[in-house]
Amino acid sequence: MFGQDDIVKRLRSYTRSLIPVMVVVAAILGACGAPPILPPMPASINVPDIWYGVSTSAYQNEDPAVAPGDPGFFKTDWELFAQAGGLKEAKGDGTWSYSEVQRDIDALKWLGVTHYRFGIEWARIEPEIGEYNMAAVAHYVAEAQALREAGIEPIVCLWHWTFPQWLADLDDPGHYGWLNDTAAERWQAYVRLMIEQLAPHVRYYAPMNEPDIQATAGFLAGLFPPGTAFAFDLHAQNIDAATTRFFEAVHIIRETYPAYAGADAPDVQILSIHAMNAWTRDPLDLFGWGYDFAKQNDFDYLDRVQEKVDIIGFTYYTQRPAFVFQPLPIGPGFSDTGAPIGPDGLTDVIVELSERYGKPLLILENGIADASELRRPIYLVTHVAAVQAAAEMGYPVLGYMHWSLVDNFEWHNGYASKFGLFSLDRETREIVPKESAYIYRDIIRAKGGEYRPDDTIVPN
Ligand code: BGC
Repeated sequence: MFGQDDIVKRLRSYTRSLIPVMVVVAAILGACGAPPILPPMPASINVPDIWYGVSTSAYQNEDPAVAPGDPGFFKTDWELFAQAGGLKEAKGDGTWSYSEVQRDIDALKWLGVTHYRFGIEWARIEPEIGEYNMAAVAHYVAEAQALREAGIEPIVCLWHWTFPQWLADLDDPGHYGWLNDTAAERWQAYVRLMIEQLAPHVRYYAPMNEPDIQATAGFLAGLFPPGTAFAFDLHAQNIDAATTRFFEAVHIIRETYPAYAGADAPDVQILSIHAMNAWTRDPLDLFGWGYDFAKQNDFDYLDRVQEKVDIIGFTYYTQRPAFVFQPLPIGPGFSDTGAPIGPDGLTDVIVELSERYGKPLLILENGIADASELRRPIYLVTHVAAVQAAAEMGYPVLGYMHWSLVDNFEWHNGYASKFGLFSLDRETREIVPKESAYIYRDIIRAKGGEYRPDDTIVPN
C-alpha cells in the first residue's frame, strides 16, 4: 500500500524528471509564440497637439574636443572601460555634437521641434576632482541660450550613465560611481554649479537618465563599466545610492533655480527619466507571476521618485512577453537589436502611468534601431498615433520626444545600431535627413490636425 508520503515523493520525482522536457517545450513554444507583426502604415492619423522634440545624450553624441595635454582634457569611465577591453568599439568622436552645435540646432529648426533634450558631461565640467572647466560650463549655457533663441525649449539631463574617471576605479566596483565616498559631495556641487549657470536659460531639468539600467548593465550583466556580473548586492546599493543622489539633486534644483532664473521666470520643472516596457503575459506564465514581477519591477523606481518630480518622464521602445522565452527576432516586427515593435503598448503605458501617479507625462525617448530605414517611418507614425489614442481617452501627455537626432554611439553596441532621424557623414560631419526625418517634420507641421503619410515627399 502506498502512503500519502509515497505519493508525494513519486509526484516530486516525476516532476523533477519532467523539468528538462518542460524547458524544451517552453523554449519551443516561446520561440514559436505569435511573433510581433510590423503594423501597416496608417493611411492617415490625427496628430496630438502636444510638444514634439528630439532627445540626445552627452556621451553618445559629443566629441571630446580636447586632446591629452589640452586644458580641460577629461576622461569618463567609458574611455577607461574601452581601454580595458570591455567594449567592442570605443566612442571616439560621437556625432561631433560638442563642436557642431549649430549644425544640430539647424537640423532641429528644420524639423520644427518645440523641445530638445541634451545632456551635460559631468567629466567635462569637472575633469579633475574639485577642478571645474568653466569654458565647458559656458559652452552648455550658450547652447541652451541658442536653442531658446531658435524657439526651442531645452530639457537638460545632468547624468546619463557616465562618470568622471576619478569616480571610476574599474578594479573596485564596491566604490565605483555612486558608491564612491566622494560621489555625494561632488555630485551636489556639480548640480549646484550647473543650475546657477543654466537657470536663466533652462526651466526643465532631468537629473538622471534611467539609473536602474546603468546599475543592471554595470553590476548584473557586466556590459557597462565597471563590467561586474551577478553582483546583486552592489546592484541594489547602486539603485539606492542613485535614488538618494536624485533626491539631493531635486532639492538643490528647487533651492537654487529661483535665485538665478530671474524674477519673471516660470517655475522650474523636474522630470524623471525611467524606462518603461509594455509587457504581455506569456501563455507559459500560468499564474501570471512573471508578468506581475516585470510590471512591478518597472514601477519600482518611479514609485520611489514620483512624489519629487513635476513631470513623469519616461522612455518607451518595445512591447514584449514578460518571461524568459522571447519570440525569435525573425521577420519585420523587430528592431535590429531584436526589440519587438508594439505601438499599442505605448498607449497602455500612458494609461497605467497616468492612473498610477496622476501627474503630467512626457515621453522622453521613443525610437528604433533600424539600419534599413524600412521600419522607422512606420514605427514613428504608429507610435505618434498611439499617443493620440491615449490623448483621445483624456490622458495627459505633454509631449513626444524621438530618440534620436543622428545615428550615434549606442553604448556596448558601438555604432552598429542606427537610431537617428539623420545619418552622419563621418568624413564631412554633415548630417542628412532620412525618410523618417521628413515624416517627422510633416507630423509636427500637422500638429492638432490630420497627417497623411502619402503626402510626405522624400527627395531622392
Ligand atoms: C537610453 C539611450 C539609448 C536608448 C536605445 C535608452 O534607454 O537612454 O541612451 O541609446 O535606450 O538603446
